Amino acid sequence: TRVLVLNGPNLGRLGSREPDVYGAQDLEALRALLEGDAPDGVEIDLRQTDHEGEIIGWMHEAVDTASPVIVNPAAFTHYSYGLRDAAALVSKAGLPLVEVHISNPHARESFRHHSTISGVATGVIAGFGLEGYRLALRAVTAG
Ligand code: DQA
Repeated sequence: TRVLVLNGPNLGRLGSREPDVYGAQDLEALRALLEGDAPDGVEIDLRQTDHEGEIIGWMHEAVDTASPVIVNPAAFTHYSYGLRDAAALVSKAGLPLVEVHISNPHARESFRHHSTISGVATGVIAGFGLEGYRLALRAVTAG
């Protein structure tokens, strides 16, 4: 199984971006963590984009390749209906889709309190830093 670990806008700056909120580890550190955790036969395909159309295309790819998805949609979480509709295709295909946030958006500004994605996600993990992605990997590879 290949697990798509998709990251939205500004997460390419992880490590230097607001480390008080998002921590000091970057996406390469996250990749190493997840690869270290991945059970035999599970491949981690971690990607980041600042472009809405690109992450939507990756959701379509998940459907076409029957890949479970772990997604941190970043700011797209709060306003992208296009990404929500694409995420719905993944769920409708019977594939697990876990929404992850490094911070706890509910403890922050009110514009972060709404997620367009949560209603079509299998589950949501927020507020545990990069550990949230590890929990998500456990969730999609369990059983
Ligand atoms: C985030 C939370 C979002 O509100 C924010 O726009 C991000 C990151 C998180 O991982 O905590 O870019 O998704």
